[in-house]
Amino acid sequence: MYGIIGGSGFESFIELEREVRVRTPYGSITSYIGRLGGVNIAFLPRHGIKHEYPPHKVRYRANMYSFYKLGVKRVIGLNAVGSILEYMRAGDIVVPHDYVDFTKSRGYTFYDGPRVVHVDVSQPYCPELRRSIVKAALDVCPERLWDRGVYVATEGARYETPAEISMFRSLGFDIVGMTGCPEAALARELGICYAAICLVTNRAAGLQDRLTTSEVLAVAKASIPYVAKIVELTINRYLPRERSCKCGEILAEAEFRRTG
Ligand code: HPA
Repeated sequence: MYGIIGGSGFESFIELEREVRVRTPYGSITSYIGRLGGVNIAFLPRHGIKHEYPPHKVRYRANMYSFYKLGVKRVIGLNAVGSILEYMRAGDIVVPHDYVDFTKSRGYTFYDGPRVVHVDVSQPYCPELRRSIVKAALDVCPERLWDRGVYVATEGARYETPAEISMFRSLGFDIVGMTGCPEAALARELGICYAAICLVTNRAAGLQDRLTTSEVLAVAKASIPYVAKIVELTINRYLPRERSCKCGEILAEAEFRRTG
């Protein structure tokens, strides 16, 4: 089963058939089950079904754990982002290859002790899933695609200041959003493949005069048809049915065990 996590503007993303409620140690989560082409999909609105959880309150652990309990092995996260680079435009798609976490107050791990686990994030996103998304996006909207990029996650709930964005630019970051972390790392901790499709909804603070949430949502809404197409082709055309990445095995070598 494949999982899709929809962010702001992507709440009703794909037509789905039934609702499921999954209980987890971190709270209960409602997601929607359906089929996309020939495969089973679970769709989960990241911010809750009424969009009641702002980025710093999103139940990241409950969301990912509910997918784990449903047997989801691969997750695509959909994120609205601001572009830090001058030459990216609203409507562009970025498939990030790395991230930097500037968030401050979230549940970052499933391993709060007594089990101590340090997962490897040398490849922060699943390489196989990323590759498939890039191929699909090349079919759908090659002129809008950035096939790599560094995502920086900020805490929210406010947008960034121009000085923060200028710092991020000088540090080499490309896009900014509020929800990509710790989602990617939590997936890794459960052995789930994770990659993101980031939609540029605006130029980051300081690159345009003002920034409004209505603008972010309007761009996200307008992009739903081609983002949906990218997801569909990723899953039905490019992603091999069996995983050949290492995401499912990383945990085996991540646990701290006392020697002697
Ligand atoms: N900053 C943070 N999060 C965002 C932005 C932004 O500019 N645009 C969409 N989500």
